[in-house]
This record gives sequence, C-alpha cells and structure tokens, in this order.
Amino acid sequence: MTDHERREARVEALLERMSLDQKIGQMTQPERMYIAPDEVKAFAIGSVLSGGGSWPGKNLPADWVAMNDAYWAASVQEDEAHLGIPILYGVDAIHGHNNVRGAVIFPHNIGLGAANDPELIRRIARVTALEILATGVEWTFAPTLAVARNDHWGRTYESWSEDPEIVSRLAGAFVEGLQHDLGTDAVVACAKHWVGDGGTTCGVDQGETTLPESELRRLHIAPYLEALRAGALTVMASYNSWNGEKCHGHRYLLTDVLKGELGFDGFVVSDWDGIDQLDDNYSEAVALGVNAGVDMFMVPEKWRHFIAELRAHVDSGRVPIERIDDAVRRILRVKLAYGLFDRPRPAERPWSNHSSFGSDAHREVAREAVRRSLVLLKNDGALPLRREARILVAGKSAHNVGFQCGGFSVDWQGSDGNQRVEGSSSIWEGIRDHAFQAVLSPDGSAADGGNFDVAVVVVGERPYAEGLGDVRRSKEVPRGSMAAGAAGVPGPGKLQPYAATLEHAVSHPEDLAVIQRIADRGIPVVTVLVSGRPLVVNPELDASRAFVVAWLPGSEGCAVSDVLFGDHDFTGRLSFSWPRADADNPNRGDAGADPLFPYGFGLSYGR
Ligand code: GLC
Repeated sequence: MTDHERREARVEALLERMSLDQKIGQMTQPERMYIAPDEVKAFAIGSVLSGGGSWPGKNLPADWVAMNDAYWAASVQEDEAHLGIPILYGVDAIHGHNNVRGAVIFPHNIGLGAANDPELIRRIARVTALEILATGVEWTFAPTLAVARNDHWGRTYESWSEDPEIVSRLAGAFVEGLQHDLGTDAVVACAKHWVGDGGTTCGVDQGETTLPESELRRLHIAPYLEALRAGALTVMASYNSWNGEKCHGHRYLLTDVLKGELGFDGFVVSDWDGIDQLDDNYSEAVALGVNAGVDMFMVPEKWRHFIAELRAHVDSGRVPIERIDDAVRRILRVKLAYGLFDRPRPAERPWSNHSSFGSDAHREVAREAVRRSLVLLKNDGALPLRREARILVAGKSAHNVGFQCGGFSVDWQGSDGNQRVEGSSSIWEGIRDHAFQAVLSPDGSAADGGNFDVAVVVVGERPYAEGLGDVRRSKEVPRGSMAAGAAGVPGPGKLQPYAATLEHAVSHPEDLAVIQRIADRGIPVVTVLVSGRPLVVNPELDASRAFVVAWLPGSEGCAVSDVLFGDHDFTGRLSFSWPRADADNPNRGDAGADPLFPYGFGLSYGR
C-alpha cells in the first residue's frame, strides 16, 4: 500500500466509527471565547480558532500552549460515547504570529510584494511557522492570495500585488514555507479567500466581483494553482459575490472548479459567519453553504445553532449524508496528512514555548524584509542621510509601532502607540541609533528655532482591518460587510469607512501641515509614508525632497534607517500602480491606465 492508500484507509476506518453527531462536530469551528474544553469533547468539535485580537491569559506563548493543551486533551479523550479526534487550532498569523505579545511582526504583504522574492517569502513563512508552533497552534489562515484591484479596499495591504504574476510567484513559496515537510516544524496553511476577494466593485469589502469567468480565472484563480501545487491543505471561502452569487454558496466555484477541475482534496473552511450572508433564514443558509461545498464552518458564537440546523437537514434529507461524509473525509485527510493523530499534546511538543520565539535571529529576517520592501519614489539628493547630520525627525508615525504594524497586530484593528507590540522598534529609534544628533519632534515644532540639515517626516494612515479600512464617499456599509472579528467591534451596518478619499491631504491634513511647517523653514524634507496602500500624495510629494514608501513595516521599524543612511540600497519596486487621483484606480495592463508611478517603479542610490 502507498502512503496515500494507507491514509485513505485510515480515513475510512475512522469514518466508519463516527456517529452523525461526531461527523457534524468535526465540521464545526467555534471561537475560543465561546467554547470550553469539555464542550469540545461533548460536541466532538473539529477545530477552534482565535479571531483577530482574541487571546488567552496574558497573551504569552505559555498561555496559548496551556489553552491549546486543554482543548487538545478534551478532543482526544476516548470513551464509549466519544471517538478521540484531535482538534486543529486556527489563527490569523498573516504577518508573523501577529496576535501574540512579543512575536516578530513582519511587513504586511503589500510590502513583501515590493520585495518580490520567493526565497525571502519562504524564510518568512518558516519563521512564522516556528512562532506559531511555539504557542501550540497548528493552523494559520494564510497566505492571502488576494489580487487587490482597487486601492479603496480596506484589505489592500493583505495583498502582494494588483497583478496575479507576483501573487502567483509568491504563493507556492509561502505555502511550502509554512507546511514544509509536514513534520514537527510545520503548520497547516490556508489559501484565502476563494475567490475574487480583491476584485470587488469600488473595492467594497465583501462586495460584488463582477467579471467574465475568463477574467476571474486570469486575475484571481491563477495564484491558487501555485498554492495547490505546493500542497495547500485548506482553502477559505470568500465573503464576496461573483456575478451576484455569494462565494460561500457557490457550488460551481467551490465544488466543480476548486474540488473537481483543480482536484483540491483538502478542506474548505468558511469565513467568520460567512454563511450568514447566504440567506436571512439561518437554517436555509446552513443548507446552502454545506451543499455548495463548504466543509468546515467558522461559526464562532452560534456553533450550537449551526450543529442543530445541520443535524435537522441531514435527518430531513436536505443535506445528503454523502455530502457530510465527503466533508468529514476531507477534514480527517488533512489531520492525517499533518500527522495530527501522532503528535504529542501541545505542552509536550518540541517547539512549544521555544526560546526562538521573538528571537533576534527571527527579527533579523523581518529586518531584511523591511529593507527590501521600501520603495523610493523621489530623491533629489536628500538621501542617503549622513550619520553626522543634524536630523529633525517628525510626523505622527515616526515613533508609533502600532501605526507601523497596521491591522491584525495584537489587536484586530491594530493599535496606537508603542505599548502593545513588545520587543519592537520604531522608525525613530532606528534613526536615533544611526545619528547621534537626531531630534524627535512629532509636530515639527523644533524646526521653528532649531538648526537642522535635514528632516525625516514619517506620516501615513492609522491602523485598520477589513471593511473598517475601506475608503469610499458613501457612508452606508453593505449588508453583513463586517465580521465581528473581536469583542467590541460594532456589528454589520454600523460601520463607517476609514476615509472618503485616497487623497491623503484630505483624510490626514495633519501630515502635510508638518511637512510644510518644516519645509517652509528651508529644511529639506525626506518623507516616509506608512500606509496599507498607495495614496494620492501629490502635495506631500511636491513639498518633499525625497519620498520613501515604507508600507506597513511591522515590529522592526529600526530597519528603515538601514536604507535611509545608505547601509543598504533601495531594491523595492512597486507591485501596485500609484494613482494620480482618487478616482484613477490604474492597474498594470489596463487600457488607458496612467499611473503617477507605474507598477515596477522604484529608484535606487544607483550603486
Ligand atoms: C475574518 C477574515 C478572515 C479571517 C477570519 C478569522 O473575517 O475575513 O481573513 O481569517 O475572519 O479571523
């Protein structure tokens, strides 16, 4: 027998022994805030997750290991009523193990797209996998394979590029870096969100992607071919619709294309309450999602309701038992492929609580990623900086690690300040370490009386995540356009977009004011932009002698200075076209696209 045959035989043997309730339990994924270990056993739950910003205890690796150990122990308990099947614990470790205190937080994907190096991506994924394992977790909802076609989308920063070429080039490397040899230092990957999440009209999060199938395949399905080729074991369904039909209920996309045509034999997990948008009647929504081909259901709070509705649908025949068996086979296949049944409990695993978590060696990988993500849009000689120069450092984002990390960084919506992301360094701290005469003056007031050779003004966006990061004029929010994500976030329909326009001087006038206050005193300004997307920054560019895009560099802000002072050259190149105006939305290859800076643009010092 081949390994595959042996594994399939084990799947069948387990399936044979499972009751219908145990099968339905395997298809159910509650959020940790809403389920205790004894309920995991009682309902034969297949997986538990942490939503963004949801952590145990003091949010240290030891707290995570203890939590996972308790869930695990409950899930594997064998008795006459319970067949032991270990749970998979899932998190959004999308730029490092970003939920956890002291984790290394990498640049968000938009910066990694500018670096555009599969080998670097692989190393980032390897470090991320080890930091996930240090907390006893086995599964991350990454990589995001979004091809973000409209900068107004609040999740643009989760995308490597507006074009499928770079996303396809990096997809396989990230999956391989996470899943490696599926051995003790591997975690389970999740390619998301299937499909067309980055293609919605006006970039509305969870909105409508209207495209002919040929364009959906060329732009949004293409990267999945690489992720599946690399062996991605799970795929997450997307909130958006395609041509008017929600992806969570799209049988053609989920079953015929992904599982049939592309031969995907892992399992599809829904997004956070993603089936709710299929029908106002929850019972109907459950049937639609299961029958379309979703296998595991992220039903954070109402998981009991889900279980009851699905049980009723199987009893009534609305959901055939064959569909249940197919879903459970896929879940068991993934758990067996990952060797989950043969792993010790989280507390006894080799990487749990490992000292490499947040280590300098891990941080050095992130610093290299920061350096290689930076894109130089303008330089009339103000860069590189001289160490002996009298440097004024200003701007709201100069000494604010929360801003430089962006969303999904300890807190779902990110944070303001330097308290939450431990072990990190700000952009200011990097400059201070290079230049002994540097002075920090966030509002630039020191320029009034000071004598400076040059100023570095670090400006940009405040953190956001998902629909809360959307930019649009209209205030209304599409129905269901927000998963709660974490406690305290307003529910659907009550959310305001991040801004009304991409024109940065309109949404953040405070930044241009600081730049001009300093430039008006004849001090050359080097502007560094911390943002999750290209922005319209024409006045800021005009007032600056040099302009650097840092994207969302993560915890290692100090590395920005390695390039500002010329220790390393600029090598980053735009993976997104840069707009001239809010309404532009230029994309590589679009007829008539006339970006201010084209896809692939980026200056260097010329060495
Ligand atoms: C969110 C996101 C998804 C994430 C999931 C779990 O709503 O859409 O990317 O993996 O919920 O947090």
